[in-house]
Amino acid sequence: MDDMIGERKADHIEVCLKENVQSRRATTGFEDVHLVHKALPEIEREKIDISTTVFGYKFSAPLFVGAMTGGTEKATKINAAIAEAVEELHLGMGVGSQRIAIGNPKVERSFSVIREKAPTAFILANIGAPQLVGKYGVKEAKKAVEMVKADALAIHLNALQEAVQPEGDTNYSNLLQKICKIAQELDVPVIVKETGAGIAAEEATMLEAAGVAGIDVAGVGGTSWAAVEYYRAKARQDGSSQRLGETFWDWGIPTAVSLVETVKSVNLPVIASGGIRNGIDATKALALGASLASATYPFLGPATTGSEDVKKALSYLVGEVRNAMFLVGANSIQKLRKVPVVLTGKTAEWLKVRGFQPEVYARRKA
Ligand SMILES: Cc1cc2nc3c(=O)[nH]c(=O)nc-3n(C[C@H](O)[C@H](O)[C@H](O)COP(=O)(O)O)c2cc1C
Repeated sequence: MDDMIGERKADHIEVCLKENVQSRRATTGFEDVHLVHKALPEIEREKIDISTTVFGYKFSAPLFVGAMTGGTEKATKINAAIAEAVEELHLGMGVGSQRIAIGNPKVERSFSVIREKAPTAFILANIGAPQLVGKYGVKEAKKAVEMVKADALAIHLNALQEAVQPEGDTNYSNLLQKICKIAQELDVPVIVKETGAGIAAEEATMLEAAGVAGIDVAGVGGTSWAAVEYYRAKARQDGSSQRLGETFWDWGIPTAVSLVETVKSVNLPVIASGGIRNGIDATKALALGASLASATYPFLGPATTGSEDVKKALSYLVGEVRNAMFLVGANSIQKLRKVPVVLTGKTAEWLKVRGFQPEVYARRKA
């Protein structure tokens, strides 16, 4: 069983490195989100404070590397490279699903290496919803946290991925109840994250009522798990799974839509992710009310070549956020959350028909 999970994890990394697994027709919606340029910013770029405190941790910039991997030798190297980079930059990272190491101490180091390399960075442990529906409970959740001495635990929702893979766990019954119990009994914040299909207002509200401390929307527009499973199915000549992956390739709620729906429905820190590819995307997300922005896929390639490359990729993002904040005249993240933002096109339409008022963002005064 563990060997099978290890093989699948290794497959995921290889497929993501070799094939185009980004969504094709679906977009994040950030192309419809416009920050209003300020010709008179009246601030000094180098004096902008881009730090922020979320979940009790002070991030030097409102960014972290999303959950990716663990369980294999290659994953150990990837995790170590990301950990070294986020430690140096005072940022954070998510670890990949820890299922493979819970009950198998032999592969724990592929995760614990993260805390060794990043003694003070923000570390987010990770377990999956399907395991919670199955045998996992508070004990396993605590074990995941302990393994990386995590600052918080993420429970990932991946119904799309499970639904397009033949070995998928497609029982999602009574999950909310389990999430509620774990949120109550853990002494670190519990965050619920999607994995590229987004979270709608209704689910966000239910998750808040269940007691979670934060929501990572991970909408569509970036990495597509249906695409990853499409390539895995193709390699083993499994025509029906290949078709399923292709059909659902672009399934989900665009990240910008999911973000606004969630921000406007709950009173919790919301993380924007899913297709965040540069500092302008991240700045738009923060202006729409995200507390942090996160990206995963953009760090995979750099992580295979070492921490310097991860650091470089992160530094570009940080610099771009600072630049965009300068150009909208926001000298702090708090101010950024008040600048006017214009929503147009499909994103504005979607929000309007769902009962949200995109024009409210356009009329704000910083
Ligand atoms: C190679 C790879 C492995 C991933 N593994 C996990 C995982 O184990 N747990 C999880 O919660 N999300 C996992 N994700 C999903 C990401 O955390 C993220 O939600 C998704 O990739 C969307 O962000 P992106 O478009 O920036 O890649 C993985 C993503 C990639 C690219």
